[in-house]
Amino acid sequence: MNQKLTARYPSNIALVKYWGKYDNQLPCNASLSMTLSKAFTETTLELKEKKTEDIELNYVFENETNEKFRTRIVTYLSQQSEFSELVKKYAFQIHSSNSFPHSAGIASSASAFASIAALFLKASSQITNENEFNKKASCLARLGSGSACRSFYGSFASWGELDALPGSSNEYAIPIEDIHPAFRTMKDAILIVEASAKAVSSSKGHALMKNHPFAAARFEQANGNCRAMVAALKHGDFPSFISITEREALSLHAMMMTSGEYYLLMKPGTIQIIERVMQFRKESGLPLCFTLDAGPNVHLLYPESIENKVHAFLEHNLREEVRSVIYDQAGTGGVIF
Ligand code: PMV
Repeated sequence: MNQKLTARYPSNIALVKYWGKYDNQLPCNASLSMTLSKAFTETTLELKEKKTEDIELNYVFENETNEKFRTRIVTYLSQQSEFSELVKKYAFQIHSSNSFPHSAGIASSASAFASIAALFLKASSQITNENEFNKKASCLARLGSGSACRSFYGSFASWGELDALPGSSNEYAIPIEDIHPAFRTMKDAILIVEASAKAVSSSKGHALMKNHPFAAARFEQANGNCRAMVAALKHGDFPSFISITEREALSLHAMMMTSGEYYLLMKPGTIQIIERVMQFRKESGLPLCFTLDAGPNVHLLYPESIENKVHAFLEHNLREEVRSVIYDQAGTGGVIF
């Protein structure tokens, strides 16, 4: 009766940031991300014979048991009525690994929860229609980690109700269909500045938006940026793409620096890279820009057409600040095999 399923789901990088949530993991504003390709989590779920009444789950991450994440998944499973029958019937063995180095400092909860939600949904439902499956899986992944819901679609996805996007919802992400060819092959060089764990978790950061003095203005700004980004992606408008993306990155960090319990996640190397990128863009006229996640590492975004020039820039100008680089690009979403 043992059944084994494997899934591979990518991480995503938000261009318009989700920062602030309410109720059951619902976002305070719409967000929009590029789905990655090479940064993914591969997870195998094995259904086994059950011996007790409890949720029986063994979780192995890169050959080591991980009690913290195991507890998080057990809590998650106990809260989803969708999985109640499966949980009653089977014990679970999960093996998971990331394509990117563990120490890279890349947030992996998006790719991890996308793969977990997809596997448990596959094991517990009969849904065969791909659209229906992705919608449901995106919704379930959101309940594990908000940004995970956007990893189901390439090359760009959005999450959160927005008038400019028919079909958009606070409960699940949708793909952005109308993308100019120039944006379909976007590259993302992830510049690792520091690999240690974040000093302040994203959950804490979301919570600090509750009493944030700039909350209302921030949510309005993000929704406006989402609308403008949808138009930029459609028309191949690089100047707008660049200014929205960089403004969003700095706005996210400005929220952290101005919350009740204020904090800083950027490091000196982060600022140096940002300044060099801006300077290089000014001098070269090339359409590259930066974005930041909730951490010190910098994502450098650029079209495939200028790849060689960006590589040369990285080699010659950023050698000292960057510890390592993960070269990624826009991807197509996940698979179960
Ligand atoms: O999905 P969470 O709860 O880890 O929050 C992610 C928040 C950001 O990565 C900073 C922004 C985003 O939209 O992905």
